[in-house]
Amino acid sequence: MQDDRPVTRGYVVHPDIRTDPDRHAPGPALEEAVSLAVALPDLEVAGSEIVPLNKVHPGTVFGSGKIEELKDRIKAAGAGLVLVDGPVTPVQQRNLERALETKLLDRTGLILEIFSDRARTREGVLQVEMAHLSYQRTRLVRAWTHLERQRGGLGFVGGPGETQIEADRRAIDDQLNRLRKQLDKVVKTRKLHRAARAKVPFPIVALVGYTNAGKSTLFNRLTGAEVMADDMLFATLDPTMRKVTLDAGDEVILSDTVGFISDLPTQLVAAFRATLEEVLEADVILHVRDISHPETESQRAEVMAILSDMGVTEATPLIEVWNKGDLLDAETSAAHRARAQRDPDIFVTSAVTGQGLRPMLERVSARLSAPKTTETMFLPYSEARKRAWLHDQAVVEDESTGDDGYSLTVRWTALQKARFDKV
Ligand code: GTP
Repeated sequence: MQDDRPVTRGYVVHPDIRTDPDRHAPGPALEEAVSLAVALPDLEVAGSEIVPLNKVHPGTVFGSGKIEELKDRIKAAGAGLVLVDGPVTPVQQRNLERALETKLLDRTGLILEIFSDRARTREGVLQVEMAHLSYQRTRLVRAWTHLERQRGGLGFVGGPGETQIEADRRAIDDQLNRLRKQLDKVVKTRKLHRAARAKVPFPIVALVGYTNAGKSTLFNRLTGAEVMADDMLFATLDPTMRKVTLDAGDEVILSDTVGFISDLPTQLVAAFRATLEEVLEADVILHVRDISHPETESQRAEVMAILSDMGVTEATPLIEVWNKGDLLDAETSAAHRARAQRDPDIFVTSAVTGQGLRPMLERVSARLSAPKTTETMFLPYSEARKRAWLHDQAVVEDESTGDDGYSLTVRWTALQKARFDKV
Protein backbone atom coordinates (compact mmCIF):
# COMPACT_ATOMS: atom_id res chain seq x y z
CA MET A 1 0.00 0.00 0.00
CA GLN A 2 1.42 3.36 -1.03
CA ASP A 3 0.46 5.47 1.95
CA ASP A 4 2.48 7.68 4.24
CA ARG A 5 0.54 6.66 7.30
CA PRO A 6 2.07 3.83 9.28
CA VAL A 7 -0.05 0.71 9.05
CA THR A 8 -0.54 -1.45 12.14
CA ARG A 9 -0.84 -5.19 11.66
CA GLY A 10 -3.67 -6.55 13.77
CA TYR A 11 -4.59 -10.09 14.81
CA VAL A 12 -8.32 -10.67 15.43
CA VAL A 13 -9.36 -13.18 18.09
CA HIS A 14 -12.98 -14.15 18.66
CA PRO A 15 -13.43 -15.86 22.05
CA ASP A 16 -16.26 -18.37 21.57
CA ILE A 17 -17.58 -18.83 25.07
CA ARG A 18 -19.68 -21.99 25.00
CA THR A 19 -21.57 -21.19 28.19
CA ASP A 20 -22.59 -17.69 27.04
CA PRO A 21 -26.41 -17.65 26.62
CA ASP A 22 -26.10 -14.82 24.03
CA ARG A 23 -23.48 -16.69 22.03
CA HIS A 24 -23.39 -15.97 18.27
CA ALA A 25 -22.40 -18.54 15.65
CA PRO A 26 -18.60 -18.19 15.86
CA GLY A 27 -17.85 -18.19 12.10
CA PRO A 28 -20.01 -15.20 11.17
CA ALA A 29 -19.05 -13.46 14.44
CA LEU A 30 -15.36 -13.69 13.57
CA GLU A 31 -16.16 -12.48 10.05
CA GLU A 32 -17.98 -9.45 11.46
CA ALA A 33 -15.08 -8.68 13.80
CA VAL A 34 -12.62 -8.89 10.89
CA SER A 35 -14.78 -6.64 8.73
CA LEU A 36 -14.96 -4.11 11.59
CA ALA A 37 -11.17 -4.21 11.90
CA VAL A 38 -10.75 -3.80 8.14
CA ALA A 39 -12.94 -0.69 8.38
CA LEU A 40 -10.10 1.13 10.15
CA PRO A 41 -7.91 2.86 7.60
CA ASP A 42 -4.58 2.37 9.41
CA LEU A 43 -5.08 -1.27 10.22
CA GLU A 44 -4.21 -4.36 8.25
CA VAL A 45 -5.57 -7.70 9.40
CA ALA A 46 -2.62 -10.10 9.55
CA GLY A 47 -4.57 -13.06 10.85
CA SER A 48 -7.63 -14.14 12.77
CA GLU A 49 -8.97 -17.09 14.70
CA ILE A 50 -11.78 -18.41 16.83
CA VAL A 51 -10.73 -19.45 20.34
CA PRO A 52 -13.23 -21.88 21.91
CA LEU A 53 -13.55 -21.36 25.67
CA ASN A 54 -15.56 -23.21 28.26
CA LYS A 55 -15.25 -20.27 30.61
CA VAL A 56 -13.50 -16.93 30.82
CA HIS A 57 -10.35 -16.99 32.95
CA PRO A 58 -10.80 -14.06 35.34
CA GLY A 59 -7.27 -12.65 35.08
CA THR A 60 -6.37 -13.36 31.47
CA VAL A 61 -9.57 -14.33 29.54
CA PHE A 62 -7.70 -17.32 28.02
CA GLY A 63 -5.87 -20.16 29.75
CA SER A 64 -2.08 -20.16 29.87
CA GLY A 65 -1.61 -22.88 27.23
CA LYS A 66 -3.82 -21.03 24.80
CA ILE A 67 -1.95 -17.80 25.47
CA GLU A 68 1.36 -19.45 24.53
CA GLU A 69 -0.15 -20.74 21.27
CA LEU A 70 -1.64 -17.34 20.47
CA LYS A 71 1.65 -15.62 21.19
CA ASP A 72 3.46 -17.81 18.64
CA ARG A 73 0.88 -17.28 15.96
CA ILE A 74 0.69 -13.53 16.55
CA LYS A 75 4.45 -13.32 16.31
CA ALA A 76 4.51 -15.40 13.13
CA ALA A 77 1.89 -13.08 11.60
CA GLY A 78 4.03 -10.08 12.50
CA ALA A 79 1.13 -8.42 14.34
CA GLY A 80 1.65 -5.61 16.84
CA LEU A 81 -1.95 -5.39 18.01
CA VAL A 82 -4.43 -7.99 19.18
CA LEU A 83 -8.13 -7.29 18.74
CA VAL A 84 -10.21 -9.33 21.15
CA ASP A 85 -13.81 -9.51 19.97
CA GLY A 86 -15.45 -9.24 23.37
CA PRO A 87 -15.17 -7.37 26.65
CA VAL A 88 -11.74 -7.31 28.31
CA THR A 89 -11.31 -5.74 31.75
CA PRO A 90 -8.40 -3.37 32.38
CA VAL A 91 -6.69 -6.01 34.52
CA GLN A 92 -7.10 -8.69 31.86
CA GLN A 93 -5.81 -6.21 29.30
CA ARG A 94 -2.65 -5.50 31.28
CA ASN A 95 -1.98 -9.18 31.87
CA LEU A 96 -2.63 -10.17 28.27
CA GLU A 97 -0.54 -7.33 26.83
CA ARG A 98 2.34 -8.47 29.01
CA ALA A 99 1.95 -12.16 28.17
CA LEU A 100 1.41 -11.68 24.43
CA GLU A 101 3.91 -8.84 24.10
CA THR A 102 1.49 -6.78 21.99
CA LYS A 103 -0.98 -3.96 22.44
CA LEU A 104 -4.61 -4.99 22.86
CA LEU A 105 -7.96 -3.48 21.92
CA ASP A 106 -11.26 -5.01 23.01
CA ARG A 107 -14.55 -4.87 21.09
CA THR A 108 -15.73 -1.61 22.62
CA GLY A 109 -12.32 -0.06 21.98
CA LEU A 110 -12.43 -1.18 18.36
CA ILE A 111 -15.96 0.13 17.77
CA LEU A 112 -14.99 3.43 19.42
CA GLU A 113 -12.07 3.72 16.99
CA ILE A 114 -14.41 3.12 14.07
CA PHE A 115 -16.97 5.62 15.31
CA SER A 116 -14.18 8.21 15.78
CA ASP A 117 -13.04 7.56 12.25
CA ARG A 118 -16.54 7.76 10.81
CA ALA A 119 -18.00 10.62 12.86
CA ARG A 120 -18.71 13.23 10.24
CA THR A 121 -21.04 15.67 11.90
CA ARG A 122 -20.09 17.85 14.85
CA GLU A 123 -22.69 16.07 16.95
CA GLY A 124 -21.35 12.68 16.01
CA VAL A 125 -17.81 13.70 16.98
CA LEU A 126 -18.96 14.97 20.36
CA GLN A 127 -21.05 11.89 21.06
CA VAL A 128 -18.10 9.65 20.27
CA GLU A 129 -15.75 11.70 22.46
CA MET A 130 -18.25 11.41 25.29
CA ALA A 131 -18.53 7.68 24.79
CA HIS A 132 -14.74 7.41 24.81
CA LEU A 133 -14.49 9.31 28.07
CA SER A 134 -17.26 7.35 29.77
CA TYR A 135 -15.49 4.19 28.70
CA GLN A 136 -12.20 5.39 30.19
CA ARG A 137 -14.01 6.47 33.34
CA THR A 138 -15.49 3.03 33.97
CA ARG A 139 -12.05 1.53 33.44
CA LEU A 140 -10.60 3.90 36.02
CA VAL A 141 -13.29 2.90 38.46
CA ARG A 142 -12.56 -0.74 37.87
CA ALA A 143 -8.83 -0.21 38.20
CA TRP A 144 -9.52 1.56 41.47
CA THR A 145 -11.64 -1.27 42.84
CA HIS A 146 -8.81 -3.57 41.93
CA LEU A 147 -6.28 -1.46 43.87
CA GLU A 148 -8.56 -1.33 46.85
CA ARG A 149 -8.80 -5.08 46.89
CA GLN A 150 -5.05 -5.39 46.62
CA ARG A 151 -4.61 -3.30 49.73
CA GLY A 152 -6.65 -5.88 51.60
CA GLY A 153 -9.60 -3.61 52.33
CA LEU A 154 -7.93 -1.95 55.32
CA GLY A 155 -10.15 1.02 54.71
CA PHE A 156 -7.61 3.82 54.90
CA VAL A 157 -8.15 6.66 52.46
CA GLY A 158 -5.85 9.07 50.73
CA GLY A 159 -3.32 6.57 49.41
CA PRO A 160 -1.38 7.61 46.32
CA GLY A 161 -3.49 5.38 44.05
CA GLU A 162 -6.70 6.94 45.20
CA THR A 163 -5.52 10.53 44.79
CA GLN A 164 -4.40 9.94 41.23
CA ILE A 165 -7.56 8.10 40.25
CA GLU A 166 -9.80 10.66 41.93
CA ALA A 167 -7.98 13.41 40.06
CA ASP A 168 -8.26 11.55 36.76
CA ARG A 169 -11.93 10.99 37.34
CA ARG A 170 -12.55 14.63 38.13
CA ALA A 171 -10.70 15.67 34.98
CA ILE A 172 -12.81 13.28 32.93
CA ASP A 173 -16.02 14.53 34.59
CA ASP A 174 -15.09 18.15 33.82
CA GLN A 175 -14.42 17.28 30.23
CA LEU A 176 -17.66 15.32 30.00
CA ASN A 177 -19.60 18.33 31.28
CA ARG A 178 -17.94 20.60 28.75
CA LEU A 179 -18.77 18.17 25.97
CA ARG A 180 -22.35 17.86 27.13
CA LYS A 181 -22.80 21.64 26.97
CA GLN A 182 -21.33 21.76 23.48
CA LEU A 183 -23.55 18.91 22.45
CA ASP A 184 -26.66 20.76 23.66
CA LYS A 185 -25.65 23.66 21.46
CA VAL A 186 -25.07 21.44 18.47
CA VAL A 187 -28.41 19.73 18.92
CA LYS A 188 -30.12 23.12 18.99
CA THR A 189 -28.44 24.32 15.79
CA ARG A 190 -29.14 20.99 14.17
CA LYS A 191 -32.83 21.45 14.94
CA LEU A 192 -32.67 24.80 13.16
CA HIS A 193 -30.99 23.17 10.19
CA ARG A 194 -33.62 20.54 10.18
CA ALA A 195 -36.37 23.13 10.20
CA ALA A 196 -34.64 24.77 7.23
CA ARG A 197 -34.43 21.44 5.49
CA ALA A 198 -38.11 20.72 6.15
CA LYS A 199 -38.82 23.61 3.82
CA VAL A 200 -36.81 21.95 1.04
CA PRO A 201 -39.61 20.41 -0.97
CA PHE A 202 -37.92 17.03 -1.43
CA PRO A 203 -38.93 13.85 0.35
CA ILE A 204 -36.25 12.02 2.33
CA VAL A 205 -35.38 8.39 1.57
CA ALA A 206 -33.25 6.89 4.36
CA LEU A 207 -30.96 3.88 3.96
CA VAL A 208 -30.71 1.80 7.12
CA GLY A 209 -29.30 -1.63 7.80
CA TYR A 210 -26.74 -3.84 9.40
CA THR A 211 -23.07 -3.08 9.10
CA ASN A 212 -21.62 -4.44 5.85
CA ALA A 213 -25.05 -4.87 4.22
CA GLY A 214 -24.01 -2.59 1.37
CA LYS A 215 -25.62 0.77 2.25
CA SER A 216 -22.66 2.92 1.22
CA THR A 217 -22.12 0.91 -1.96
CA LEU A 218 -25.79 1.42 -2.83
CA PHE A 219 -25.67 5.10 -1.84
CA ASN A 220 -22.65 5.67 -4.08
CA ARG A 221 -24.19 3.77 -6.95
CA LEU A 222 -27.45 5.69 -6.77
CA THR A 223 -25.85 9.10 -6.32
CA GLY A 224 -22.84 8.40 -8.51
CA ALA A 225 -20.49 9.93 -5.95
CA GLU A 226 -18.18 9.13 -3.08
CA VAL A 227 -19.88 9.58 0.31
CA MET A 228 -16.99 11.56 1.67
CA ALA A 229 -16.75 13.87 -1.37
CA ASP A 230 -17.91 17.45 -1.07
CA ASP A 231 -21.37 18.37 -2.22
CA MET A 232 -22.96 21.77 -2.53
CA LEU A 233 -26.48 21.83 -1.22
CA PHE A 234 -26.43 19.55 1.78
CA ALA A 235 -22.76 19.20 2.64
CA THR A 236 -23.08 21.77 5.41
CA LEU A 237 -26.07 20.01 6.89
CA ASP A 238 -24.90 16.48 6.55
CA PRO A 239 -22.42 15.01 4.09
CA THR A 240 -24.30 11.75 3.93
CA MET A 241 -27.29 13.33 2.19
CA ARG A 242 -27.53 13.72 -1.56
CA LYS A 243 -30.19 14.76 -4.00
CA VAL A 244 -31.17 12.08 -6.49
CA THR A 245 -33.61 12.24 -9.40
CA LEU A 246 -35.57 9.02 -9.80
CA ASP A 247 -36.62 7.66 -13.20
CA ALA A 248 -40.19 8.79 -12.66
CA GLY A 249 -38.86 12.32 -12.24
CA ASP A 250 -39.21 12.59 -8.46
CA GLU A 251 -36.40 14.43 -6.75
CA VAL A 252 -35.55 12.95 -3.37
CA ILE A 253 -32.87 13.34 -0.73
CA LEU A 254 -31.09 10.04 -0.18
CA SER A 255 -29.68 9.73 3.33
CA ASP A 256 -27.05 7.18 4.39
CA THR A 257 -26.79 6.12 8.04
CA VAL A 258 -24.29 4.35 10.29
CA GLY A 259 -24.66 0.58 10.16
CA PHE A 260 -26.06 -1.52 12.98
CA ILE A 261 -23.52 -3.57 14.91
CA SER A 262 -24.41 -6.56 17.06
CA ASP A 263 -23.84 -6.32 20.82
CA LEU A 264 -23.33 -2.58 20.70
CA PRO A 265 -21.56 -1.55 23.92
CA THR A 266 -23.94 0.49 26.08
CA GLN A 267 -21.62 3.51 26.07
CA LEU A 268 -22.16 3.74 22.33
CA VAL A 269 -25.92 3.42 22.10
CA ALA A 270 -26.55 7.18 22.41
CA ALA A 271 -23.90 8.03 19.82
CA PHE A 272 -25.37 5.47 17.47
CA ARG A 273 -28.95 6.65 17.89
CA ALA A 274 -27.96 10.28 17.37
CA THR A 275 -26.73 9.33 13.93
CA LEU A 276 -29.97 7.49 13.21
CA GLU A 277 -32.37 10.30 14.10
CA GLU A 278 -32.78 11.17 10.43
CA VAL A 279 -34.86 8.07 10.07
CA LEU A 280 -37.68 9.61 12.07
CA GLU A 281 -38.19 12.19 9.34
CA ALA A 282 -37.87 9.83 6.42
CA ASP A 283 -40.71 9.58 3.91
CA VAL A 284 -39.52 6.15 2.83
CA ILE A 285 -37.09 3.80 4.60
CA LEU A 286 -34.91 1.48 2.55
CA HIS A 287 -33.86 -1.39 4.80
CA VAL A 288 -30.73 -2.78 3.16
CA ARG A 289 -30.04 -6.41 4.10
CA ASP A 290 -27.14 -8.69 3.25
CA ILE A 291 -29.41 -11.52 2.15
CA SER A 292 -26.41 -13.84 1.72
CA HIS A 293 -25.44 -13.55 5.42
CA PRO A 294 -26.19 -16.66 7.51
CA GLU A 295 -27.71 -14.49 10.29
CA THR A 296 -29.70 -12.24 8.00
CA GLU A 297 -33.00 -13.03 9.77
CA SER A 298 -31.80 -12.12 13.25
CA GLN A 299 -30.09 -9.02 11.85
CA ARG A 300 -33.41 -8.00 10.35
CA ALA A 301 -35.19 -8.53 13.68
CA GLU A 302 -32.59 -6.38 15.46
CA VAL A 303 -32.91 -3.54 12.96
CA MET A 304 -36.71 -3.62 13.13
CA ALA A 305 -36.67 -3.64 16.94
CA ILE A 306 -34.44 -0.57 17.10
CA LEU A 307 -36.48 1.29 14.51
CA SER A 308 -39.66 0.64 16.43
CA ASP A 309 -37.90 1.61 19.68
CA MET A 310 -36.98 4.91 18.12
CA GLY A 311 -40.58 5.63 17.27
CA VAL A 312 -40.74 4.60 13.61
CA THR A 313 -44.24 3.25 12.98
CA GLU A 314 -45.93 1.35 10.18
CA ALA A 315 -47.09 4.69 8.80
CA THR A 316 -43.62 5.13 7.27
CA PRO A 317 -43.32 3.04 4.12
CA LEU A 318 -40.48 0.54 4.44
CA ILE A 319 -38.94 -1.28 1.51
CA GLU A 320 -36.67 -4.27 2.11
CA VAL A 321 -33.64 -4.34 -0.17
CA TRP A 322 -32.34 -7.90 -0.22
CA ASN A 323 -28.84 -6.95 -1.29
CA LYS A 324 -25.86 -9.08 -2.38
CA GLY A 325 -28.26 -11.20 -4.45
CA ASP A 326 -25.28 -11.92 -6.73
CA LEU A 327 -23.71 -14.04 -3.97
CA LEU A 328 -26.63 -16.50 -3.72
CA ASP A 329 -26.55 -19.97 -5.21
CA ALA A 330 -29.08 -20.60 -7.97
CA GLU A 331 -31.56 -22.44 -5.78
CA THR A 332 -31.62 -19.90 -2.93
CA SER A 333 -31.73 -17.10 -5.45
CA ALA A 334 -34.82 -18.59 -7.10
CA ALA A 335 -36.53 -19.07 -3.74
CA HIS A 336 -35.82 -15.47 -2.67
CA ARG A 337 -37.03 -14.12 -5.99
CA ALA A 338 -40.27 -16.07 -5.68
CA ARG A 339 -40.74 -14.66 -2.19
CA ALA A 340 -40.04 -11.10 -3.39
CA GLN A 341 -42.55 -11.57 -6.21
CA ARG A 342 -45.28 -12.03 -3.63
CA ASP A 343 -44.43 -8.89 -1.64
CA PRO A 344 -44.44 -5.51 -3.39
CA ASP A 345 -42.02 -4.10 -0.80
CA ILE A 346 -39.24 -6.69 -1.15
CA PHE A 347 -36.58 -6.56 -3.88
CA VAL A 348 -33.62 -8.84 -4.52
CA THR A 349 -30.77 -6.57 -5.61
CA SER A 350 -27.04 -6.24 -6.02
CA ALA A 351 -25.42 -2.90 -5.36
CA VAL A 352 -22.37 -4.24 -7.20
CA THR A 353 -23.96 -5.43 -10.47
CA GLY A 354 -26.91 -3.05 -10.32
CA GLN A 355 -29.39 -5.92 -10.60
CA GLY A 356 -32.89 -5.20 -9.24
CA LEU A 357 -32.25 -1.54 -8.49
CA ARG A 358 -34.55 -0.08 -11.13
CA PRO A 359 -37.79 -1.82 -10.00
CA MET A 360 -36.86 -0.99 -6.39
CA LEU A 361 -36.59 2.71 -7.23
CA GLU A 362 -39.89 2.55 -9.11
CA ARG A 363 -41.46 1.30 -5.93
CA VAL A 364 -39.90 4.22 -4.01
CA SER A 365 -41.60 6.58 -6.47
CA ALA A 366 -44.90 4.75 -6.03
CA ARG A 367 -44.62 4.89 -2.25
CA LEU A 368 -43.88 8.61 -2.39
CA SER A 369 -47.05 9.38 -4.23
CA ALA A 370 -49.11 8.06 -1.36
CA PRO A 371 -52.88 8.59 -1.63
CA LYS A 372 -54.26 11.65 0.14
CA THR A 373 -57.52 12.09 1.99
CA THR A 374 -59.42 15.23 2.91
CA GLU A 375 -60.55 15.88 6.46
CA THR A 376 -61.98 18.70 8.50
CA MET A 377 -60.94 19.36 12.07
CA PHE A 378 -61.21 21.84 14.87
CA LEU A 379 -58.22 23.14 16.84
CA PRO A 380 -58.62 25.35 19.93
CA TYR A 381 -56.43 28.48 20.06
CA SER A 382 -54.22 26.74 22.62
CA GLU A 383 -53.11 24.31 19.90
CA ALA A 384 -51.16 26.93 17.95
CA ARG A 385 -48.22 24.55 17.57
CA LYS A 386 -50.30 21.90 15.85
CA ARG A 387 -51.75 24.52 13.52
CA ALA A 388 -48.26 25.81 12.68
CA TRP A 389 -47.15 22.24 11.91
CA LEU A 390 -50.06 21.78 9.47
CA HIS A 391 -49.10 24.98 7.67
CA ASP A 392 -45.44 23.93 7.55
CA GLN A 393 -46.52 20.72 5.87
CA ALA A 394 -48.59 22.70 3.40
CA VAL A 395 -51.64 20.48 3.87
CA VAL A 396 -54.18 23.19 4.84
CA GLU A 397 -56.76 23.76 2.10
CA ASP A 398 -59.15 25.94 4.03
CA GLU A 399 -59.20 27.65 7.40
CA SER A 400 -61.63 29.83 9.34
CA THR A 401 -61.52 31.26 12.85
CA GLY A 402 -64.33 31.08 15.38
CA ASP A 403 -64.78 32.01 19.04
CA ASP A 404 -62.79 29.10 20.44
CA GLY A 405 -60.33 28.21 17.71
CA TYR A 406 -59.73 27.24 14.10
CA SER A 407 -61.80 25.13 11.74
CA LEU A 408 -59.50 23.55 9.20
CA THR A 409 -59.79 21.48 6.07
CA VAL A 410 -56.64 19.46 5.41
CA ARG A 411 -55.60 17.18 2.57
CA TRP A 412 -52.84 14.81 3.60
CA THR A 413 -51.28 11.35 3.48
CA ALA A 414 -51.67 8.67 6.15
CA LEU A 415 -48.04 9.31 7.17
CA GLN A 416 -48.67 13.01 7.72
CA LYS A 417 -51.80 12.17 9.69
CA ALA A 418 -49.89 9.76 11.93
CA ARG A 419 -47.15 12.33 12.54
CA PHE A 420 -49.69 15.03 13.31
CA ASP A 421 -50.91 12.97 16.27
CA LYS A 422 -47.46 13.25 17.83
CA VAL A 423 -46.96 17.00 17.35
P1 GTP B 1 -21.30 0.03 7.17
O1 GTP B 1 -20.67 1.29 6.68
O2 GTP B 1 -20.40 -0.78 8.05
O3 GTP B 1 -22.64 0.23 7.74
O4 GTP B 1 -21.48 -0.92 5.88
P2 GTP B 1 -22.37 -0.69 4.60
O5 GTP B 1 -23.73 -1.26 4.80
O6 GTP B 1 -22.29 0.72 4.14
O7 GTP B 1 -21.64 -1.67 3.58
P3 GTP B 1 -20.68 -1.31 2.36
O8 GTP B 1 -21.42 -0.58 1.30
O9 GTP B 1 -19.45 -0.68 2.89
O10 GTP B 1 -20.38 -2.77 1.80
C1 GTP B 1 -19.72 -3.74 2.56
C2 GTP B 1 -19.01 -4.72 1.64
O11 GTP B 1 -19.96 -5.47 0.87
C3 GTP B 1 -18.10 -4.07 0.62
O12 GTP B 1 -16.96 -4.87 0.49
C4 GTP B 1 -18.92 -4.05 -0.66
O13 GTP B 1 -18.11 -4.08 -1.80
C5 GTP B 1 -19.70 -5.33 -0.52
N1 GTP B 1 -21.00 -5.26 -1.21
C6 GTP B 1 -21.96 -4.30 -1.10
N2 GTP B 1 -23.03 -4.58 -1.86
C7 GTP B 1 -22.74 -5.75 -2.50
C8 GTP B 1 -23.47 -6.59 -3.43
O14 GTP B 1 -24.58 -6.32 -3.84
N3 GTP B 1 -22.83 -7.73 -3.83
C9 GTP B 1 -21.60 -8.08 -3.39
N4 GTP B 1 -21.07 -9.21 -3.86
N5 GTP B 1 -20.90 -7.34 -2.52
C10 GTP B 1 -21.46 -6.19 -2.07
